[in-house]
Amino acid sequence: MRLDRFLSNLPRFSRKDARLALIAGRVKVDGLTVRDPHHEVREFSCVLFDDEALQAGKPSRYYMLHKPPGCVSATVDPQHPTVLDLLDEPDKHELHIAGRLDFNTSGLMLITNDGQWSRRLTQPATKLPKVYLVETEQPIGEHYVQKFADGFYFAFEDLTTQPAQLVVLDAHHARLSIVEGRYHQVKRMFGYFDNKVLNLHRERMGPLVLDSTLEPGQYRPLDAAEILMI
Ligand code: URA
Repeated sequence: MRLDRFLSNLPRFSRKDARLALIAGRVKVDGLTVRDPHHEVREFSCVLFDDEALQAGKPSRYYMLHKPPGCVSATVDPQHPTVLDLLDEPDKHELHIAGRLDFNTSGLMLITNDGQWSRRLTQPATKLPKVYLVETEQPIGEHYVQKFADGFYFAFEDLTTQPAQLVVLDAHHARLSIVEGRYHQVKRMFGYFDNKVLNLHRERMGPLVLDSTLEPGQYRPLDAAEILMI
């Protein structure tokens, strides 16, 4: 919400009071004096008027989880354990997943209560590469590389996938970088060659790399630098 609206929604400020308070430099957001009436106030923002708190600001939370295979990327599931079951945190209903993984896929999963942050991470326009290690049933041919770069036509969505980078590691393993996150995207791409994906593991999302000290099922909060990377 705009800062001037935030202020004038409070019973103590008329629209004129709000404007004058801003011009006089009496309002601070997250420790800085703000005079711009359009400044965005979020639920996480701490807003002060003459050093009196108008809104304390809810803590924003960001976690990196090493998702094990065999759990659902959902907040609730009637049958299976969910990734949120692995978190020992309060108010888990406020958290959401930034970029789902299939039931049997493992690897980097980011969980937060900050919707703007997770949208920046997952919206196709930002084209952040997601990097996967793939193990397949059949040998991976060198000719796959060009097809991944050219794109696959997905009839259901009526689109051609963005150029993807495939690096063949050995006969049955490859590292794949894709910038979208279509439903079962990696499996469908290999499915084009009738090659079943046996194991799929996400190593990174943009600049955020799965912490190698996290065992499957373990998680940790992101540090300040990691949060700012997105
Ligand atoms: N592509 C898939 O097919 N599955 C995943 O979990 C992620 C990407």
